[in-house]
Amino acid sequence: MNLPGVPEGTSAMQGLRKDIIPAAEPTLARPTVPAAKPVIGDDEVAAAVRVLRDGRVVQGPEVAAFEEEFAALVEGRPCVAVNSGTSALHLALLALGIGPGDEVVVPSFSFAATANAVRLAGADPVFAEIDPDTFCLDPDAAAEAVGPRTAALMPVHLYGHPAPMGRLTQLAQRHGLAVVEDACQAHAAALHGRPVGAFGDAACFSFYPTKNMHTLEGGLVVVPDAERARTLRLLRNQGMEQRYENEIVGANMRMTDVAAAIGRVQLERLPEWTEQRRTNAKALDAGLTGGLVTPLVADGARHVYHQYTVRVPGGAAVRDAVQRELQAAGVGCAVYYPTPIHRLKPYAHLGADLPVTDQAAAEVLSLPVHPSLTPGDLDQIVAAANSAASMAGVIR
Ligand SMILES: Cc1ncc(COP(=O)(O)O)c(C=O)c1O
Repeated sequence: MNLPGVPEGTSAMQGLRKDIIPAAEPTLARPTVPAAKPVIGDDEVAAAVRVLRDGRVVQGPEVAAFEEEFAALVEGRPCVAVNSGTSALHLALLALGIGPGDEVVVPSFSFAATANAVRLAGADPVFAEIDPDTFCLDPDAAAEAVGPRTAALMPVHLYGHPAPMGRLTQLAQRHGLAVVEDACQAHAAALHGRPVGAFGDAACFSFYPTKNMHTLEGGLVVVPDAERARTLRLLRNQGMEQRYENEIVGANMRMTDVAAAIGRVQLERLPEWTEQRRTNAKALDAGLTGGLVTPLVADGARHVYHQYTVRVPGGAAVRDAVQRELQAAGVGCAVYYPTPIHRLKPYAHLGADLPVTDQAAAEVLSLPVHPSLTPGDLDQIVAAANSAASMAGVIR
């Protein structure tokens, strides 16, 4: 299965001579320790069944309850649930009046949805460099990217590490820009005690299965005020508050009640899962002594480790060799993202020149950090990663 934002797995067929490929494709070897493990447990199933039996399945009481409960994560700000993180970003931009003729400064080192949302809103993304240590938008680079058409900054809390919101907010204020947080990977992350999602004029979360919590598919926009929340509610539902009294042009980006009911179960467990991710990350930090560069956490940042991403010094060939060794040792791992957005087909013509981003794309490798890991799994990851680094000749 090719999941959005998740690179396809390495095929067991790779490297085989075509003439000796058996007629029936062999099943892929499953890594002993998977890179991610979405939870769909008995409680999630029971919640979904409860809604299906109730019959109110689309944007009903479960969605309203989910929105209210999620607000506790973002200082009580109004929340509007939608059908994906991409929809959340798209509608957030529309609700802020950003569209044709406007530019939005984004990092290129992110999932394509970040820039796609800007394009879907009719605006133009302008790619800016990242901080090489945290992989998040660099405020100095963002400042250089601001021009007469800039309407917003869209920092990404990549891998679950908060972007430098203090400096980015100051920059936005200096130029009268909106700030849209792409918090799709950063549920419950915080900076100096303030949760991500509570900084911007809008903030967007994703509930895709591999995220720190999920609703199968889903997303949510956080805004500072009820008026903007109402605009978002109209935009997600064909412009209607009252049935067939369409006030504005809108889309159908509603969340189902099945999704919301699953989200409510997951939300309850998010604090426990987040702590487990952070504990797992500490164990990996302590164990990885073989030359891989462990993730840096900025001052005051609460990293929630959607991904535990190391750098493999030496470039893509060495990184890919480490990845192959890890996979051979039964440790799932992945590269997020091998091609920065500015080099993808829809954006390459813009000709952005981003050497820090290119280097990150060539060096990053994400190891399993999900809350289902056992102490034995963590030992296996550490041993395999140290040995893979040594076999690939990683020198720091
Ligand atoms: C940084 C980032 N932004 C946006 C999205 C889009 O979210 P969704 O897949 O729910 O549309 C994702 C999801 O992978 C993401 O990681």
